[in-house]
Amino acid sequence: MQDKLNELKERREESHRGGGEERIEKQHDKGKLTARERISYLLDEGSFVEVDAFAEHQCRNFGMEDRTVPGDAVVTGHGTVNGRPIVVFAHDFTVFGGSVSSVVAEKINKIVDTAIEAGVPVVGLNDSGGARIQEGVDSLDGFANLFRRNTKASGVVPQISCIMGPCAGGAVYSPALTDFTFMVQDTSHMMITGPDVIETVTGEQVTMDELGGANAHTSKSGVAHKAFRDDEAALDSIRELLSYLPANNMEDPPRVEPWDDPNRRDDELIDIIPEEPKKPYDMTEVIQHIVDVGSFYETHENYAKNLVVGFARLDGRSIGVVANQPRVNAGTLDIAASEKGARFVRFCDAFNIPILTFVDVPGFMPGTDQEHGGIIKHGAKLIYAYGEATVPLLTVVTRKAYGGAYIVMASKGLGADVNYAWPTAELAVMGPRGAVNVLHRREIAKADNPEAKRQELIDEFREEFAHPYRASEKGHIDDVIDPRETRPRLIKDLQLRETKRAENPPKTHGNVPL
Ligand code: COA
Repeated sequence: MQDKLNELKERREESHRGGGEERIEKQHDKGKLTARERISYLLDEGSFVEVDAFAEHQCRNFGMEDRTVPGDAVVTGHGTVNGRPIVVFAHDFTVFGGSVSSVVAEKINKIVDTAIEAGVPVVGLNDSGGARIQEGVDSLDGFANLFRRNTKASGVVPQISCIMGPCAGGAVYSPALTDFTFMVQDTSHMMITGPDVIETVTGEQVTMDELGGANAHTSKSGVAHKAFRDDEAALDSIRELLSYLPANNMEDPPRVEPWDDPNRRDDELIDIIPEEPKKPYDMTEVIQHIVDVGSFYETHENYAKNLVVGFARLDGRSIGVVANQPRVNAGTLDIAASEKGARFVRFCDAFNIPILTFVDVPGFMPGTDQEHGGIIKHGAKLIYAYGEATVPLLTVVTRKAYGGAYIVMASKGLGADVNYAWPTAELAVMGPRGAVNVLHRREIAKADNPEAKRQELIDEFREEFAHPYRASEKGHIDDVIDPRETRPRLIKDLQLRETKRAENPPKTHGNVPL
């Protein structure tokens, strides 16, 4: 028996060495951790259980028969994060550049299947040269099977991807199918085709970083949600994100021991909204004053900054927060913000996370760029997302809520459970100036002093509509509340709706505008 145990030990050590010391050193020189180091950093100490450590590629071309590494180019298994199980896979760049052979794909697919069956989140740590060139279509087929798994798992278990090295060609579509994609500054890149191909085909010159670096994807394309200075910071953030999420769609998100007073009235909320209606303020401050102190975890913070999304806690319960940001483009909704919001709302709804929406929106962004870019269909995504949501929806209008944008931002008619307005709220079909110009154009033109007449009519309109009481007369707003009362009120509402039951009619799936 001892011989056999020795053999097992040797084989396991060989598997752990991956591509060997030299390549491990190279990985460290680039400022990157190895696949195993990443996994052990991510998981609770000693909790990792590896599977398929002895799986080997079956390629018998290009001399590959003499180049096998037990475990091949990915490490897969399961473990716990803060005591809660997850499954994890990490590409091992030291073995054939982390490239995906059919065996690598089978290992990943097996562990994703396990996650779906067990109902636990999947974390994928990507660092890979993409499809294993020597294996041709076998490797591409492996990816196809992975994409199908990602799609199957979508809405069943949370899927988080972290890009920690190259991720090119078809390989980018697995992260793209998951719920959250993180990147590491400088060492990670995502792209369909690299700079050389681009230059050959279009003549355009661009660096790897400009094309597919962390900044490009977190601020320009919106493909990635967050970027971090190094591997450790990214993995820390994955642990934090997981703490807000349930393990699967049949579970409620975990409630942590509350640390902030549920009856806390926050006096500073009184002074956040400026007297001057067009003056910007920072909506994240409003959020931070209302949710449990220090609990706001923003995602996608560098993309479509006119809309803020993120997770937070109210009396220890996880919530999703969606909020217009008056500091950026006056908080108007555009294509990017609509998509960002819609995807976040759908994620929360899929995973039983109540949504708190803060509204200060003058409307949709006007212009041909937006119209021709399809703001109609993209804006419809956000309507659809709120319209189909069955989780508790709580809405607070802090200032402007005009027109179509009023409707979109979790209005009563769209299905919100509770709609509050602060006394500073203005709810109308459009702002006073716009409304007066449409309704009284002729009257203004005929007046002796058109500007004075316009101002008089604007003041009249403001008196009539630019407040929350008209909307509350009809129940579109459930109550006008003192901003200081917002936190205690929301906590009571959330508590009441913990047992909310709502269902959509049975269907294969809806046809969300894409
Ligand atoms: N298939 C097989 N082996 C691959 C591979 C792939 N797709 N990508 C990388 N490798 C191997 C390399 O041959 C090298 O092997 P070695 O250590 O035995 O010499 C090792 O992985 C490391 O690659 P290297 O090119 O030295 O690393 P790098 O950091 O300089 O560059 C990449 C990394 C990913 C940018 C580069 O390897 C690359 O462009 N790979 C091809 C990407 C691609 O087009 N994939 C197919 C698209 S789906």
